[in-house]
Amino acid sequence: MSDPVLLPSKASISRHEGVKFEDVRVHLLERKMGSSRRRFLTHLARSKGFIVEDTLSDAVTHVVSEESQASSLWKWLKGCGLKNLPMMHILNIIWFTDSMREGRPVAVETRHLIQVCVLATVSQYACQRQTTTENNNKIFTDAFEVLAESYEFNEMEGPCLAFRRAASVLKSLPWAVQCLGATEDLPCLGEHSKAVMEEILQYGRSFEVEKILSDERYQTLKLFTSVFGVGPKTGEKWYRRGLRSFSDILAEPSIHLNRMQQSGFLHYGDISRAVSKAEAQALGNIIDEAVHVITTDAILALTGGFRRGKEFGHDVDFIVTTPELGKEGHLLTSLIDQLEQQGILLFCEHQTSTFDMSKLPSHRFEAMDHFAKCFLILRLENSQVVGGLHDAEEGGRSWRAVRVDLVSPPIDRYAFALLGWTGSRQFERDLRRFARMERRMLLDNHALFDKTKKEFLAATTEKDIFAHLGLEYIEPWQRNA
Ligand code: UTP
Ligand code: MN
Repeated sequence: MSDPVLLPSKASISRHEGVKFEDVRVHLLERKMGSSRRRFLTHLARSKGFIVEDTLSDAVTHVVSEESQASSLWKWLKGCGLKNLPMMHILNIIWFTDSMREGRPVAVETRHLIQVCVLATVSQYACQRQTTTENNNKIFTDAFEVLAESYEFNEMEGPCLAFRRAASVLKSLPWAVQCLGATEDLPCLGEHSKAVMEEILQYGRSFEVEKILSDERYQTLKLFTSVFGVGPKTGEKWYRRGLRSFSDILAEPSIHLNRMQQSGFLHYGDISRAVSKAEAQALGNIIDEAVHVITTDAILALTGGFRRGKEFGHDVDFIVTTPELGKEGHLLTSLIDQLEQQGILLFCEHQTSTFDMSKLPSHRFEAMDHFAKCFLILRLENSQVVGGLHDAEEGGRSWRAVRVDLVSPPIDRYAFALLGWTGSRQFERDLRRFARMERRMLLDNHALFDKTKKEFLAATTEKDIFAHLGLEYIEPWQRNA
């Protein structure tokens, strides 16, 4: 039974009767408060002449919440698509009880505020955003990735990059988009992206994406390009010849597979399975030991997705070099010999260095670099992995094949190589775009060139490069753009 003294009279419940404070529009958040307590407090406030809005809209000026977790409350609020959120007071229950006691809306004090949260604008550049591996908008970004890939298969670079950019923006949000209004202030989301999001918000899925996923050409190209050494061009060629499956390819006598593709098919089961962090660490130990047999002062750094803190990857990427400039020249060759002698080298494509500082900045200051590198498939024993191999098949295999990339820059290029190979690909694309568009500088895996000063800017650490670019430093685990 409710306390009859505290229950406001029926007349004062009606919204605009007896309103004393026209400028203050309160909304009580039901989250954490519960509906019955909310109903009671609503009646109480209205009986004292307050306007209490039943729904959270842009008309609200004072939001009252009993939520103690400020960050999750803000995450939720940002997903509501309110334009006026930056102007609203987000208050704890103390403001409400103070106001009830005084019989008027009390002035907002710091102790009434639930976290002072600045609604920072989201940059169009991934290198000005922090993106961890936690993705709050996976339902949208997965859909965008399918669309981007489909455009890639059709050689439509523009829309492909547009969807990759849109996905990257959503990945950086610490909150989940709950309505289209919440995307209004976000960059890189075009009409098409928004239409896809609207479908997903309304139906939980996108029909356009489903159509692509069931498309024969998409499915076949997706399958073919999942083979190590097969890119969209080769995939397309095979598709146009009427081939639809691996057995079609392997049974076709006129098809010549290169060495990489042969290994790709041979180890398909293993290398299409994700590599775990423990497996990456085990490989790090193996390579660390091997490289130190060659030179005691060798430098080995884990890079790629695992450096960004990912739990799983499609390969493991390392940088190997020496502190003495020029001594890195034969490092990869010796390292490959060493792995071969250990009997763990299943495949190796070694590209010798074509790096020449005097030819920089090259016309295409771009993704491909000129450092010595090798693309490997290594044999990893179950016994070498803490906790054992990831996802080991039934029948207890004692080893698996893993893809490993090694790149060997000269030490004075180390910071650029590390930054370039840490990724993500989208982060790298935007670093270069930012350098070019905002700073008149050219950045790639080798160097940073200032077009205004017409000179190269030296760097020994990644922080130096960010500083040259006038960018706030972004940690590797915040580069999962
Ligand atoms: P990966 O393709 O290995 O991606 O390239 P990843 O982020 O580690 O993710 P996984 O492996 O799929 O889990 C790593 C980084 O190395 C750069 C890419 O731009 C990417 O940022 N890279 C790769 C180069 O700069 N040059 C290359 O030849 C290959
Ligand atoms: Mn990788």
